[in-house]
Amino acid sequence: MAAPVTKDQELELHVDSLAYGGNGVARTDGFVVFVRRGLPGDTVRARVTKVKRSHAEALALEVLQPGPERVDAPCAHYPACGGCRFQDLAYESQLAAKAGQVRDALQRIAGIPEPPLEPIVPAESIFHYRNKLEYSFTQTPAGPALGFHRAGRWDEVLEIERCWLTTDLGNAIRNAVRDWAREERLEAYDQGTGAGYLRHLVVREARNTGQVLVQLVTAPGERFESGYFVEVLRRFPEVRSIHWAINDTPAEVTNLPTRLLWGSDAIEEELCGLRFRVRPNAFLQTNTAMAERLYEIASDFAGLSGRETVYDLFSGIGTIGLVLASQAFAVWGVEVSEESVACAMENAELNGITNAAFFAGNVGQALEELRERAGAPDVVVVDPPRAGLAGKALRRLGRMAAPRIVYVSCNPTTLAGDVKQLSADWGYRLLRARPLDMFPHTPHVETVALLELDPAHEPASD
Ligand SMILES: C[S@@+](CC[C@H](N)C(=O)[O-])C[C@H]1O[C@@H](n2cnc3c(N)ncnc32)[C@H](O)[C@@H]1O
Repeated sequence: MAAPVTKDQELELHVDSLAYGGNGVARTDGFVVFVRRGLPGDTVRARVTKVKRSHAEALALEVLQPGPERVDAPCAHYPACGGCRFQDLAYESQLAAKAGQVRDALQRIAGIPEPPLEPIVPAESIFHYRNKLEYSFTQTPAGPALGFHRAGRWDEVLEIERCWLTTDLGNAIRNAVRDWAREERLEAYDQGTGAGYLRHLVVREARNTGQVLVQLVTAPGERFESGYFVEVLRRFPEVRSIHWAINDTPAEVTNLPTRLLWGSDAIEEELCGLRFRVRPNAFLQTNTAMAERLYEIASDFAGLSGRETVYDLFSGIGTIGLVLASQAFAVWGVEVSEESVACAMENAELNGITNAAFFAGNVGQALEELRERAGAPDVVVVDPPRAGLAGKALRRLGRMAAPRIVYVSCNPTTLAGDVKQLSADWGYRLLRARPLDMFPHTPHVETVALLELDPAHEPASD
């Protein structure tokens, strides 16, 4: 059947729900149209931007009749800023939509008609919750400015005066760096032409200790007086660690080798009663308060008695493994970033934990060797990036035949695909799944899932 809509056509649409990723779902003659900036209950005038065989995409141009779940967004930069998608959707509705997306993925992709889903854990704070913000520099008539990409634009940065996802301190530090850049007559880097100098600013705020790490990213060359940059930042007593990184590629990245300009090379954060050293490139969950909830749930699902060998795969700076160590016989972590592994080892020492070891490696390749060294696991915790367990990692994990897997996921669709494969090929059953909202006003949802092995299952061959 040909699609009943054409590109650039304007339509009046009624939005029924939110799809995973944050677009509204509407139907015209039964044909699905995903509407950017359409919220449940809205009637909108929308322009079709893309037509495919199974669905179309559209952009809401005007809200003709607002849905009952719309609220006023407090941020002056909303909705132009690409940082938040749902500041104008009531928080209860955001939660319901996210829980629904996890349910839907487990039903549709994992093929579980009644998933064992537990109530979504709401965020402790719906604003000011991020402990890490990455800003881009942009050139304005007044000089360099700092902000985020405009919604849907990779090539345009919107200057930000006050971001609601960080704290007053985070906003003040960013604005002080902007004022410094203007005073020093430096120029923002231009992504299109490759001219200019200032590229990114990363501000990391350890929320439970108050310590702040700042990282400036520039194009090559030393075009600023680092002593004065440090002086400006030291006006904030919370700033403990100031780094500078050079990006000599066109790619917009901040994960780069850094040079310490001043202070300690790392800051410390406290999670679940333990101290963690965090270096500029090490992974740390970006919502501190909710990371603690996440680890409590993972710990509950792991159900440890003190006798277990636990693998912590994709271990980052060792947070989950170290939180579990006091309830386990031994913890073994694997993580690809050497900087994170160095932090994990330091963190074990910092907390006097002697039954946890961490190794640098790719989970897909390192598992066999880990088993030879550590023995078979009783519980495996996995916390992969959004892509989930890539094929090889999943097969190797299946082959380990651990009685329990605790799967911490930041993407319900890859979680559901992995659950399906772990059940079909490796004999696991999904026992529990608990979504958490770590990122209010964004489409992201975290889920902790518990899978248990059916001991009678005949394993598949690799
Ligand atoms: C979602 S983070 C989880 C980190 C940690 N569990 C935590 O809660 O802070 C995923 C981690 O996996 C690491 N990673 C990504 N791909 C990997 C791979 N193939 N093998 C090992 N680690 C990987 C990343 O560097 C990152 O630290």
